[in-house]
Amino acid sequence: MNRFTLPFALLLAVMLVACGGGESTPAEDPGPAPVAATNPDLPIQGAMDLGPIDEALAAQGEADFTTRCTTCHKLDERYVGPALGDVLVRRSPEWVMNMILAPDKMIVSDPDAQTLLAEYSVPMTNQNLTQDEARAILEYLRQTAEGS
Ligand code: HEC
Repeated sequence: MNRFTLPFALLLAVMLVACGGGESTPAEDPGPAPVAATNPDLPIQGAMDLGPIDEALAAQGEADFTTRCTTCHKLDERYVGPALGDVLVRRSPEWVMNMILAPDKMIVSDPDAQTLLAEYSVPMTNQNLTQDEARAILEYLRQTAEGS
């Protein structure tokens, strides 16, 4: 090793470390948006894992739907809000869950929710449901979407 080699080796080492640091930047990239939500405030973030329709859960959801949603929604025709019998043909289950649980947050960030508000003029109100109650209603809406 002559007297120039060591400084060059050190310089090379520093450059490698510096480049290594630069390469770690992509790890901080958020990556592709989750299936359900691009707003971190929304309750449902990832894809939901739905099994076959649970009839008992759907029956519970139907009861909740009747007391909490039918003031504004019908299944088969437009009312204060859109008909919901086939909503799961149009929307993902995650989107519907977020709309039930946090319509006020959806309106801030979701283009489809914004289009709906423009069309219906009235904002969908937050019914303060628990996630379990919303899940039961989702089951009922899955059942109606299948026409069973
Ligand atoms: C005060 C009236 C009102 C109540 C009560 C209400 N909604 Fe809504 N809902 C609306 C309106 C109006 C819209 C459309 C405008 C908007 O989204 O802001 C809507 C939109 C929706 C959508 C989106 C429909 C689509 O076509 O994509 C879903 C899903 C929904 N509501 C589910 C429910 C459920 C489930 C309940 C009961 C827990 C409920 N809503 C209670 C008024 C209401």
